[in-house]
Amino acid sequence: MTTMVKKLFLCALACIAFTTATADEGMWLPSLIKERINDMRKMGFKLKAEDIYSDTKASLKDAVVQFGGGCTGEFISAEGLLLTNHHCGYSSIQKLSSVEHDYLTDGYWAKSRAEELHVPGLTVSLLVKMEDVTARLAAGEKEQDIIASATKGDGYRASIESMYYGNQHYLFVYRTYRDVRLVGAPPSSIGKFGGDTDNWIWPRHTGDFSVFRVYANAENGPADYSESNVPYRPARHFPISTAGLKEGDFTMIYGFPGNTQEYVTADAVDYVSEVSNPMKIALRTMRLDIITEAQSKDVATRIAYAAKHANIANAWKKWQGESLGLKRLGTAAKKREYEKAFSQWAAGNERYATLLDSMHAAYKAVIPHYFARELFNETVQGMEFFNYAYWFYLNSFVKGEKLTADKQAEARRKYLKDYNVNIDRAISRRMLSEYLGRMPKEEVPAPLAAAVESAGGAEAFVDSMFASTLLLTEYPLTREKITADPMVQFAGWFADALAKNRRYAYRNLSNVPAVEKWYRTYMQALREWDKERAFYPDANFTLRVAYGTVTGYENADGEYHTHLTTLDGIMAKDNPEIYDYNIPQSLRDIFASKDYGRWSIEKSGKPTIPVCFLASNHTSGGNSGSPVLNAKGELIGINFDRTWRSTMSDIEFDPSICRNISVDIRFVLFVMDRIGGAGYLLNEMNIK
Ligand code: ARG
Ligand code: GLU
Repeated sequence: MTTMVKKLFLCALACIAFTTATADEGMWLPSLIKERINDMRKMGFKLKAEDIYSDTKASLKDAVVQFGGGCTGEFISAEGLLLTNHHCGYSSIQKLSSVEHDYLTDGYWAKSRAEELHVPGLTVSLLVKMEDVTARLAAGEKEQDIIASATKGDGYRASIESMYYGNQHYLFVYRTYRDVRLVGAPPSSIGKFGGDTDNWIWPRHTGDFSVFRVYANAENGPADYSESNVPYRPARHFPISTAGLKEGDFTMIYGFPGNTQEYVTADAVDYVSEVSNPMKIALRTMRLDIITEAQSKDVATRIAYAAKHANIANAWKKWQGESLGLKRLGTAAKKREYEKAFSQWAAGNERYATLLDSMHAAYKAVIPHYFARELFNETVQGMEFFNYAYWFYLNSFVKGEKLTADKQAEARRKYLKDYNVNIDRAISRRMLSEYLGRMPKEEVPAPLAAAVESAGGAEAFVDSMFASTLLLTEYPLTREKITADPMVQFAGWFADALAKNRRYAYRNLSNVPAVEKWYRTYMQALREWDKERAFYPDANFTLRVAYGTVTGYENADGEYHTHLTTLDGIMAKDNPEIYDYNIPQSLRDIFASKDYGRWSIEKSGKPTIPVCFLASNHTSGGNSGSPVLNAKGELIGINFDRTWRSTMSDIEFDPSICRNISVDIRFVLFVMDRIGGAGYLLNEMNIK
């Protein structure tokens, strides 16, 4: 073959598999956005690269924060007013609630700055700068020295993050503010409208937002909570556009996506879709069935287990969509074709000729251990008592600490929150049976295997453990009783397994060091070979830019899902009998009066209010709460979800179906103004 023909042949294979990253695919590093800016501008974006990111001048990045552990938030006023999702603020709102003040159910709105409620432990982090330190590290500088010299001053922290499987390293310097206060939240009947039923689903009608304010010391720096603190003055905050949106409009998302693996080989795709997801889905279905049944019989249990149910169900639904999507796209088969073409190219190359064989072998060796860890997480860690019992084991036996009544009370609060022993026993019976049935024998702790055998089976063993433990009923426990307790002993049997598990506790299978080292070379090879492809680093909770358009999609043959939902859709779902669809009376009254004031839009010739919209931005978990911006960099929504059928975008993005879901900023303002009676907050915003 001539080189020309060879190239065409390779492209024919490679280009079927992966067309070069188009507008919608990709999570780009803000400091390199100049490489994408022409593409963005072609799609309608009006600003310049340095408006998005600059580490010398104020830029849009200064209006974006990492909120709490794993969400994103954005400033919407010069006085530190911050938006994020309701589900991101959920635990803070819960912490501030009591029986007399149930802010989760009723919502909360501070009528003055004095009523803004400090959330103990809540922080937000602002990115000060990012820097490619690959060359500095190669020149022999030490990681800890780079970090130390970047973090002088109060509240600074930094980390060096690997990109492209360790081919590049970036320094991220953050400033963390630790006086963050709740300003307001809608009632759950708006903020969590649709609950788990609608989660990951379009059409969607959730007002998933909450409002906070960041406080600072007199120098605008981080400070512990103090009455004398003043609102933080961000270098930038987002102006808000109420002009509305239409299909095809440019959108951009600025936030902190957590975990994607776009470059993995077919082996990894097979593992995710054929092994890992089916196992996790099946086990969670069992747990959810047990919880749901108990909830259906008793209102108190329904409430106590609502958050636990939501947590278990969230990933459960996502994995189902991911497996379905990978099958539908034929991702593994396409990757095999791609790898075949790569191998032909690599055949004569000393460095790369056997690379894929090495990766294949590495996976073979690592997968059983990784699977054991995932199975342990879903079964043993799915028993609620386990982490409580392990806390006793670790602190009393391993660390030899004296477990005072206070310490035990604190652990009880943490691990046995909203606990129902009947649910936990039923789940534990089932999960231990599944664990023993699915785990390779050599991974099962010997004392456990013996105990189960002498008890006459997993369920009988669990029953006897629950019958004789004092852990759940007595407090404080003496050291003798802790030592003798069957649950503490059970937890102790897993100490070795847990230690081993930690060696496989990476973000995903491709990050386990024995595999990752090959990916480092593979990424280099791909860049030499697949020159047309636009590479972006996998998500790793660092700040990224994604861009796309406001757009619906064809959900099924002949069935198009349009991009915008409205108040009329909320009213169609409204049902006082169904907890997740029981909206506040005030919203019904407004709907009946049709007095929508400035929030009115027209749809099919009738007035209504916009609620949620779809767009084609490439997002992932961690992007919750991210600002959704228009072509002028104005805020038009808050990202909070994807459709479940598009969640395979963590491995392969399909522009025809992958959609992120945002709450329309006009709905946010409407709820503040008309449901919350907090219209005064709008005065400090810059609303266009
Ligand atoms: N699916 C969204 C995410 O992954 C929202 C989760 C919270 N909502 C819920 N109904 N569980 O975080
Ligand atoms: N709800 C997710 C989050 O909390 C975002 C949805 C997604 O995975 O795209 O980060």
